[in-house]
Amino acid sequence: MQRMIKTAHRASTFSESVIREMTRVANQHGAINLAQGFPDFPMPDPMKDAACAAIHGDINQYAITWGTPALRLAIAEKYRRWYEMDVDPEREITVTCGATEAMAAVFLALIDPGDEVVIFEPFYENYGPDAILAGAKPVFVPLEGIDWKLDPDKLRAAFSEKTRAIVVNTPHNPTGRVFTREEISLIAELCQEYDVIAITDEIYEHIRYAGSHHVLATWPGMHERTVTISGLSKTFSCTGWRLGYAIAPAEMTSPIRKVHDFLTVGAPAPLQTAGAIGMAFGPDYYNHMALEYRERRDLMVSSLTDAGFRFSAPEGAYYILADFTGISDLRGVEFAMWLAREIGVATVPGTSFYHDPSMGETVTRFAFCKKPGTLEMAAERLATLSARV
Ligand SMILES: Cc1ncc(COP(=O)(O)O)c(C=O)c1O
Repeated sequence: MQRMIKTAHRASTFSESVIREMTRVANQHGAINLAQGFPDFPMPDPMKDAACAAIHGDINQYAITWGTPALRLAIAEKYRRWYEMDVDPEREITVTCGATEAMAAVFLALIDPGDEVVIFEPFYENYGPDAILAGAKPVFVPLEGIDWKLDPDKLRAAFSEKTRAIVVNTPHNPTGRVFTREEISLIAELCQEYDVIAITDEIYEHIRYAGSHHVLATWPGMHERTVTISGLSKTFSCTGWRLGYAIAPAEMTSPIRKVHDFLTVGAPAPLQTAGAIGMAFGPDYYNHMALEYRERRDLMVSSLTDAGFRFSAPEGAYYILADFTGISDLRGVEFAMWLAREIGVATVPGTSFYHDPSMGETVTRFAFCKKPGTLEMAAERLATLSARV
């Protein structure tokens, strides 16, 4: 008789990542992959050259657990240049294997089982498992309507004596919202009123089409209670390098570094060396990137509008979470599978971004971090939708 292997309860509550699953579906059906948020265009040459040079220069052993001095210094200097934020590279930065590991390490280091964590919904799908790993209780605050509005009263109502932290992702995946100065101020006010820490996810900080990027850690009274998470994946189109970081006051950085050490020991040493080169790029790099992303966004907006989807144009990040009820009676995963199989465009069903999947049955997410040629091909395929429904 076959023995049943006992597995941990915490892992049994995870479902397989639908985002990664849709990439496999795209490959299987030859669909254009607008599902997973990785660019299909190359990263900057100087960083590639620096990585090769580092490997050939024998920088191939463990780096300092919390990051190479050169990368931490480059991160600190960038925050001073961009946000006038003082960061001590010796005591306040932990370099991690992507923002993904940073978020998990921060949850494990700072949140106790039973603590409540406020999360805006829809949300990037990793935050759910992060909360489960830490035993935290997520409290969801909806972003609502076609323009994903935040109701200040609902945010206020989510805070209580049990709240330990809030996760603030701006620019926001999957909605493309960029939180306004007023919204960030309200979050700061509530964090101070309820003695709550803010954990930000600013991975799309440089990909914006409207509004400014507000760094919560620079708000009055917030430095001491904010963990700023970001990374190189999106800014330098190198999602496979797995470089991210958490910036926090020394009292929070100390446990974050310990958890990070036991999880991964450290991020890849030669890539950290090359990452420091990218972090020192000047304004030209960012201006150019912004122009190219605007072009991609405009292409995606016009093809989805022509195809009959309903949505508001994103203010930042590189996603559109679009309502398809005017196109199909199918729901959630069924619609996304049909679109991949029959139309040849892979997306991520909206159900992946809600704690109760039924809340995301009528929307699907398009990622447009792709070459214009890829987006034009997707537009041609989407143009066939009206004849098919
Ligand atoms: C909001 C958000 N945070 C984090 C990540 C992952 O970042 P990293 O590649 O640095 O782990 C993503 C990737 O899609 C994301 O959308």
